[in-house]
Amino acid sequence: MVDASAHVELRGIGKAYAGIPAVSDVNLTIAPGSVHCLVGENGAGKSTLGKLVCGAISPDQGELLVSGEPVRFHSPHDAISRGLVLISQELSVLPARSALENVFLGSTSTRAGFLLDHATMRRRYDELVARTGFDVPADVQAGELNLASQQKLEIMRALARDASLIVMDEPTAALSREEALGLLDVVRDLARSGTTVVLVSHFLDDVLAVADTVTVMRDGRHVRTDPAAELDADAIVTAMLGKLADVSFPVKKPPAADAPVVLETINLGRADVVRDASLQVRAGEIVGLAGLMGSGRSELARLIFGADRATTGQVMLDGRALRLTGPRDAIKAGIAMLPESRKLQGLHLTASLQQNIALPHLRSLSTAGVVSRRQENERTLKALERFGVDLSKAGHPAESLSGGNQQRLLFAKWLLEQPQLLIIDEPTRGVDVGGKRAIYELISELAAQGLPVLLISSELDEIVGLAHRVLVMRSGRLTAEITGPDVNESVVLSAVFGRVEGEPAA
Ligand SMILES: Nc1ncnc2c1ncn2[C@@H]1O[C@H](COP(=O)(O)OP(=O)(O)OP(=O)(O)O)[C@@H](O)[C@H]1O
Ligand SMILES: [Mg+2]
Repeated sequence: MVDASAHVELRGIGKAYAGIPAVSDVNLTIAPGSVHCLVGENGAGKSTLGKLVCGAISPDQGELLVSGEPVRFHSPHDAISRGLVLISQELSVLPARSALENVFLGSTSTRAGFLLDHATMRRRYDELVARTGFDVPADVQAGELNLASQQKLEIMRALARDASLIVMDEPTAALSREEALGLLDVVRDLARSGTTVVLVSHFLDDVLAVADTVTVMRDGRHVRTDPAAELDADAIVTAMLGKLADVSFPVKKPPAADAPVVLETINLGRADVVRDASLQVRAGEIVGLAGLMGSGRSELARLIFGADRATTGQVMLDGRALRLTGPRDAIKAGIAMLPESRKLQGLHLTASLQQNIALPHLRSLSTAGVVSRRQENERTLKALERFGVDLSKAGHPAESLSGGNQQRLLFAKWLLEQPQLLIIDEPTRGVDVGGKRAIYELISELAAQGLPVLLISSELDEIVGLAHRVLVMRSGRLTAEITGPDVNESVVLSAVFGRVEGEPAA
């Protein structure tokens, strides 16, 4: 029977990788012009289901119907020409092309098949900027843009393709809170104008704010689909996990009063991006770096890690000035950093999980220059186990892990050896509720053992819940230090937005 009210219908859909099912026997109807959210734990099959819905991958089993008609796509392009577009979880901008080119690549033909001329593209680009509120300059090279801007390009590209159905896989993961709220408005606008949106998100508040319908996935299976109006966050989490989750933070254990300063930066700076940054982090102390997207938080972290060259100032570790010509020097000095972009900075996606973990540590895993395979094998397996990664996947490529599990892999990689200093940029991006708590416990446990931690997060509750002390950045400068009982959301938020105590809100 054809369901006339379905934009896309899945019947008994299944998809396996190397014989292991990622999605099994899913029956699902997506109504035209609706906002349909997919939620579930890391590895539950959300991304796979999203790709199946929009024809980006083909099912091994079952049938896909678009507007009541059975279809089989032979390439993602096939699906795009039917108006089905995917914004994938791992970004795919072409770094050497301009922002504008990235938005219109692949859609440089108009409906009638002509190439768009530059002036038309420029006009449509400006329209997209106006519509989304995303202020990404058209002519800048995409590779120069930060993660959030690259994410915006992906979204603009999907809009430029005049899709009838857009699957957005965690589109707000890299965005600031205001940008994320702006995107939710875009989603509502799209639905109002008749476009179907399938949204994958771990932010249940966002889901509840924007969804017409919510589908919960668990272990590759469909658990339930309900009108959003009949759900609340507890009901969703319970369906996701099969139980209620604990998303509180571990009790803070402040560092000893005489804990030594381990990291000190003195007037550290780079061009206009970071200016005169002087800070200290003591043994066992978690220092949170708060600030808006683009305030220079990640950039400061990259200077300390040697990923970018500082033009002024110094990084001192245990009282010694470091000469940082690249991350290799920082790693050698004992600095570990979990970067914000897994794909671009963190993992070799085609290398195995074990290879990924071993890579930065080959020196310590070898004797007289020869890598001990047995040692490498044992230690990397132990690291995977510690961070809750499925050991049966140890030899599989990193790209076969779900987004959230790639984050766990990064922890395993950088904490194989005890570092002197840990820098973490967005530790729980894309991690599900259960996984978040595990990472919070891990961070606080590492600090309790004496490790100094510099923590960057756009999620304010994370900074406030974990940090002993908070430094606020604005426009490349450290502008405030918040300690003790002042480490709470309202004080930090005021500092982030630059309101001064006692002044009325803008
Ligand atoms: N290309 C692939 N090769 C091998 N296995 C894969 C591949 N893509 C996904 N999988 C596996 O399929 C399962 C579902 O993965 P999927 O990416 O759909 O999860 P997800 O719900 O999107 O998780 P997350 O919230 O972490 O993004 C996982 O066990 C994953 O390891
Ligand atoms: Mg995913």
